[in-house]
Amino acid sequence: MELFELKGKTAAVTGAAQGSGKAAADLLEKAGARVFRVDLEEGIRCDVSDEQQVEKTFKQTGPVDILVNNAGIAVRKNALDITREEWDRVIAVNQTGLFLCARAAARRMKEAGGGMIVNLASIMGFSGGIYANPAYQASKGAVVNLTRALALEFAPMNICVNAVAPTFVRTALTEPVFSDPQKLATVMQHTPLGRLPETADIAHAILYLASPAARCITGVTLPVDSGYLAR
Ligand SMILES: NC(=O)c1ccc[n+]([C@@H]2O[C@H](COP(=O)([O-])OP(=O)(O)OC[C@H]3O[C@@H](n4cnc5c(N)ncnc54)[C@H](O)[C@@H]3O)[C@@H](O)[C@H]2O)c1
Repeated sequence: MELFELKGKTAAVTGAAQGSGKAAADLLEKAGARVFRVDLEEGIRCDVSDEQQVEKTFKQTGPVDILVNNAGIAVRKNALDITREEWDRVIAVNQTGLFLCARAAARRMKEAGGGMIVNLASIMGFSGGIYANPAYQASKGAVVNLTRALALEFAPMNICVNAVAPTFVRTALTEPVFSDPQKLATVMQHTPLGRLPETADIAHAILYLASPAARCITGVTLPVDSGYLAR
């Protein structure tokens, strides 16, 4: 079991104030890590899409062994209706913000001799989705392939880069879906296991990919999707 222990390690989790980020921060802490909670709302306050704020944040944390790149947003509007500003904001947070945090953490991990980066992708990084959400889909597809590219670039630095791709999990982000019986019924039609993950299930996958048990895994995106992508 010590392969899943994080005693003596430090971790930064972005978007850690609520939802899957909070569950991951809590679990990494339970596994023994010292966790820096980074969020717009509380903890170390930082907008991940702002390069200066990201640099300041990682200066404050010092080198971390683990980065969980979890902060993310959605604007559920179809391609014909989404504004340029809304599109740009989703890409800025989900894609560019994730890159800025990975880079800032990796520079310090390189000096420290290695690390583990876990990105939050989505099943929407592999699928057009079940309703229109094009900016989100585009950003999460980018996370899947950026995970591969960073894994290759950072491998010589002993840094593993992987991602988790959840299906629908009930959080503030998905409340509009879960509170609409019709939308929820459609989601369940795409859920072969008949049960959806909770934030704790996402945290379990994150802990695995952040732990020494995953030391030979890099560049992969692990779906936690109750079978959504198997069809
Ligand atoms: N909930 C789902 O069904 C689901 C499915 C697939 C992927 N995901 C991904 O999981 C991650 C977490 O989602 P969640 O459902 O827990 O969301 P959530 O809305 O419950 O929490 C997101 C957190 O990120 C923070 N945040 C937002 N923008 C930020 C920014 N610019 N800088 C710093 N922090 C910021 C928010 O303050 C919030 O605390 C996201 O990347 C999301 O895309 C979620």
